[in-house]
Amino acid sequence: LSRDSFPKGFVFGTASSAYQVEGNSLKYGRGPCIWDTFLKFPGATPDNATANVTVDEYHRYMDDVDSMVRVGFDAYRFSISWSRIFPNGIGRFNKDGVDYYHRLIDYMLANNITPYVVLYHYDLPEVLNNQYNGWLSPKVVPDFMAFADFCFKTYGNRVKNWFTINEPRMMAWHGYGDGFFAPGRCTGCRFGGNSATEPYIAGHHLILAHAAAVQVYRDKYQRRQNGTIGILLDFVWYEPLTYTVEDEYATHRAREFTLGWYMHPITFGHYPETMRKLVGSRLPNFTAEQSKLVQGSADIIGVNHYTTYYVRHHAFSKWLYVVPWGFYKAVMHVKNKFRDPLILIGENGIDQSGSDTLPHALYDTFRIDYFDQYLHELKRAIADGARVTGYFAWSLLDNFEWRMGFTSKFGLVYVDRKTFTRYPKDSTRWFRKVIKSEE
Ligand code: FCB
Repeated sequence: LSRDSFPKGFVFGTASSAYQVEGNSLKYGRGPCIWDTFLKFPGATPDNATANVTVDEYHRYMDDVDSMVRVGFDAYRFSISWSRIFPNGIGRFNKDGVDYYHRLIDYMLANNITPYVVLYHYDLPEVLNNQYNGWLSPKVVPDFMAFADFCFKTYGNRVKNWFTINEPRMMAWHGYGDGFFAPGRCTGCRFGGNSATEPYIAGHHLILAHAAAVQVYRDKYQRRQNGTIGILLDFVWYEPLTYTVEDEYATHRAREFTLGWYMHPITFGHYPETMRKLVGSRLPNFTAEQSKLVQGSADIIGVNHYTTYYVRHHAFSKWLYVVPWGFYKAVMHVKNKFRDPLILIGENGIDQSGSDTLPHALYDTFRIDYFDQYLHELKRAIADGARVTGYFAWSLLDNFEWRMGFTSKFGLVYVDRKTFTRYPKDSTRWFRKVIKSEE
């Protein structure tokens, strides 16, 4: 495998998110977000982690950009913390926060690392959750729009690759369906909730907020700034375990309730049929005007893909399996089912459990095998016509992995959590070979 096996101009990068890497979550004027509140409850993560420090990228972004340069990456996908820019969700901006992203972007550009910027990655300002229940209220739409507008205005002269929201399905489902993510709402959850209705309401507002931000970008900035804007969606590939009608239908349902939940409205202007049938009146409607706004609201689709599950009617699984051909099928499904959009692989990677000590943690041969096989499958999808413009590995660093705390590690680079020294794993050398075509 080498860079030459991919189309000209194909972009290689790594992805992260503000909350997972920045640290300093309550410093430099940043307002709390829903994860800060959520993690206060003992047992929220197996290691009782907080992200108050995590890997301290806020201070060490130069080291991290330098690592990217050494490996040969072209781009870095990071997210902007809404509550670092607007500690109150709206209103007055926080200059320290605004300046941080200026420094990061400028340093990246000075080093030829292209910014791919995500506006929202699970970290809603806590005040908006307090004031009106966050994503459950339509009030979040204009607030998100104002935040997005500010970011386009402030950074858009240098940022040409925008994404509104990362994995709205994860946000809607885990935040409001099973309570696994902040704000931790579900039927019977400590923070209250109603799993039968709230995920769909939150999902609806996530889509509307996305579309509203895209509209602002297109109306006010896109032509002048000459960039693109899209959304990032999580997509497990689902394969029927047996070719029985039950399993095939269960597979179809699984696809429609995950990728389809967002891809259908964005492509066709309405929710997928299975969802409308099964969720019924609990599924909000798009008005004609909203539907028009939502349809076509992405220049590019970010596909975050990690694994494939076999589906049996009523089965459920939680692990990441290594199924390279599932990646091929997932990408081809997006191409064939949703009018052949431009695709960016927004995330792909594998975590490491078990040995966490140096030097063993650096010998990540299993991760190299994973990347090698998955990238071969991506190459195959491109050869078969998928319009894929880039690929982002999750993640450069071992970082704060949400409900797993620091017990699950996806990084190409190990971080000593006492000294914050970064140690490249073998997979960085493998990537370097591929990207620099040194084979
Ligand atoms: C994705 C999330 C990202 C990280 C990876 C491992 O679903 O977008 O923040 O947790 O999984």
